Amino acid sequence: MRSSALTLIPALLLLLCSGQVVAGGSFADGFDYPADATYVGSDSCLDCHEEVADLYAHTPHSVELAPLVPGGNATSCEACHGPGSLHVDDEEVDSIINAEMLRGMDDNQRDDMCLQCHNTQHVGWSGGPHQGTGISCADCHADQIHFKVEAKPANAFRNESEFCIQCHTSQVTDFRLPFRHRVLEDQIMCGDCHDPHNGFPTNTWNGLNETCLGCHTEMAGPFVFEHDGVQSEDCTTCHKPHGSTHDKMLITDGNTLCLQCHYESSFNADDSWELAETNHGGLLINEARCFDCHTEIHGSNVAPSFRDQ
Ligand code: HEC
Ligand code: HEC
Ligand code: HEC
Ligand code: HEC
Ligand code: HEC
Ligand code: HEC
Ligand code: HEC
Ligand code: HEC
Ligand code: HEC
Ligand code: HEC
Repeated sequence: MRSSALTLIPALLLLLCSGQVVAGGSFADGFDYPADATYVGSDSCLDCHEEVADLYAHTPHSVELAPLVPGGNATSCEACHGPGSLHVDDEEVDSIINAEMLRGMDDNQRDDMCLQCHNTQHVGWSGGPHQGTGISCADCHADQIHFKVEAKPANAFRNESEFCIQCHTSQVTDFRLPFRHRVLEDQIMCGDCHDPHNGFPTNTWNGLNETCLGCHTEMAGPFVFEHDGVQSEDCTTCHKPHGSTHDKMLITDGNTLCLQCHYESSFNADDSWELAETNHGGLLINEARCFDCHTEIHGSNVAPSFRDQ
């Protein structure tokens, strides 16, 4: 055993790591196991823990495939349970990173357990929607692990949206609104817009818009007359992304939609309403909406005022 005076050090190390595996350190360093233990290879675990090994046999984490922690010596079982040289001889629970120690992990350690190998591009965890929420890799990938978590893995559901909804119950209400993306009807999936590991891409015009424009190509332009209110803003300035009570999933069907920005307009005593150069006093009668006339609101090849004539 490491001296008990040193037990605070792992906790301190973790604080410094703050969710990222530090080069040179390892996941195992966060635990209090015998300091003189070394890595022996996970083949040796098979001798006595065949049932556990069987659970991994059909995954990329199996003893047979022996995935190696990049820059370290640990493979498979030892990646999470630490070096096993002493334990394979004495068979003691305290000579290895045991279940009780692992049950005491904090959120960062839970992430690091997987990120020690998966800190790659397709899992850009930091900045993704679940980092720091208490939801960790294993909560969604229970088909890859041999310990209990609350959520069922994706392959236990009919489709990916139902998998997400097991936790995100409050979003279901959005998708029952009259104007919506048809997620509950299987025409589009949560994952068409969200990556559970990564945030919206940021390398383009606007990561969020790029996601929308992947399907709504007709809004992408380029247009002869671009609308700055679309080009320099998120689609969500005007649209609810999940669903809305308003036609076209607008955030409101009133003219406040446009007046968020076009507040240069002013009501005058003589009932004229100047919008830039044009008096809208006579135009905004009978509950006319801005986009009844300015129909090409995402951009136009015809008119700078985004009217279709
Ligand atoms: C020679 C047999 C043997 C070998 C080889 C062996 N173990 Fe064990 N292991 C045991 C026994 C027996 C226990 C249960 C000890 C107890 O409950 O007191 C145990 C307990 C454990 C525990 C703790 C379980 C708990 O309830 O906390 C872990 C984790 C573990 N082994 C992992 C490994 C790993 C990883 C390897 C390979 C590096 C390995 N074992 C190799 C016999 C073995
Ligand atoms: C990705 C990390 C990870 C890998 C890989 C892993 N374990 Fe575990 N193991 C855990 C965690 C976490 C727990 C305890 C969790 C709990 O009980 O809540 C655990 C629990 C155990 C236990 C005690 C409970 C039980 O299921 O009997 C044994 C024994 C064990 N592991 C052996 C192994 C062996 C052998 C391998 C390799 C075939 C292995 N583990 C691979 C993370 C891992
Ligand atoms: C020792 C290194 C290592 C650790 C630790 C590890 N993985 Fe993996 N994992 C791999 C490798 C290697 C692959 C196969 C190549 C790939 O998909 O990146 C893989 C593949 C996967 C896959 C894809 C499965 C498939 O069938 O395509 C999932 C999901 C996954 N790992 C989840 C996890 C989770 C969750 C954890 C933590 C509980 C974890 N991994 C810990 C190395 C590791
Ligand atoms: C909120 C749920 C969720 C969380 C949390 C999560 N994943 Fe995933 N992951 C998924 C879904 C959904 C897929 C795609 C469907 C599938 O293959 O299961 C996936 C796919 C993967 C794959 C296969 C990727 C590929 O390109 O084939 C790997 C590897 C993976 N996840 C690793 C991780 C790791 C590591 C973590 C933690 C850092 C993590 N996941 C956290 C839901 C999640
Ligand atoms: C195991 C439960 C669980 C599963 C499964 C799950 N999530 Fe989450 N998710 C959470 C929790 C908890 C949060 C943080 C609290 C919140 O914002 O709801 C979160 C946060 C998010 C956020 C960020 C919310 C914000 O306010 O910024 C998005 C987006 C998200 N999840 C999408 C998904 C998608 C897409 C899936 C399916 C691939 C999924 N989640 C599966 C539990 C889960
Ligand atoms: C058409 C694209 C799209 C689909 C499909 C979609 N989302 Fe979203 N979702 C978004 C956008 C855009 C946001 C707002 C993000 C922002 O403003 O940063 C969002 C926000 C969220 C949030 C944050 C809280 C909230 O409600 O605003 C959660 C959680 C979430 N989505 C989960 C889900 C789940 C679960 C599904 C599937 C059942 C899903 N989303 C389907 C685009 C989508
Ligand atoms: C996020 C802010 C924003 C929102 C919301 C917005 N716009 Fe704009 N709009 C602009 C900006 C910025 C310009 C460029 C102004 C300029 O060139 O003077 C512009 C230009 C225009 C023009 C062309 C003006 C000209 O002088 O040629 C029209 C017409 C217009 N918007 C109508 C609308 C309508 C109708 C709506 C509601 C559906 C709307 N806008 C919502 C920011 C916005
Ligand atoms: C300035 C407000 C505004 C912004 C920003 C905006 N839209 Fe719209 N969008 C509208 C209005 C208003 C309508 C309804 C037009 C109508 O009914 O004639 C609409 C309609 C739509 C429609 C339905 C078209 C149809 O013919 O049924 C789609 C799809 C759409 N928008 C996608 C997007 C996407 C994608 C983005 C981001 C690139 C975006 N919108 C940004 C105001 C906006
Ligand atoms: C995977 C493809 C896909 C993505 C990504 C996508 N949409 Fe859609 N969107 C659709 C489809 C399909 C419809 C038609 C829905 C229907 O009528 O059943 C639609 C309809 C719409 C409508 C019109 C709704 C109505 O009431 O007529 C708007 C507005 C819209 N999407 C905005 C967005 C925004 C904003 C985003 C990004 C947050 C986005 N979409 C991302 C596929 C997509
Ligand atoms: C009944 C039709 C109608 C309605 C409703 C309407 N407009 Fe206009 N708008 C016009 C016409 C006509 C012009 C003059 C430009 C042209 O001839 O194309 C114009 C011009 C504009 C211009 C450009 C001003 C300039 O002279 O360069 C802006 C900005 C504008 N409108 C915003 C709005 C906003 C915001 C609303 C809602 C509060 C709105 N419009 C409602 C018909 C309308």
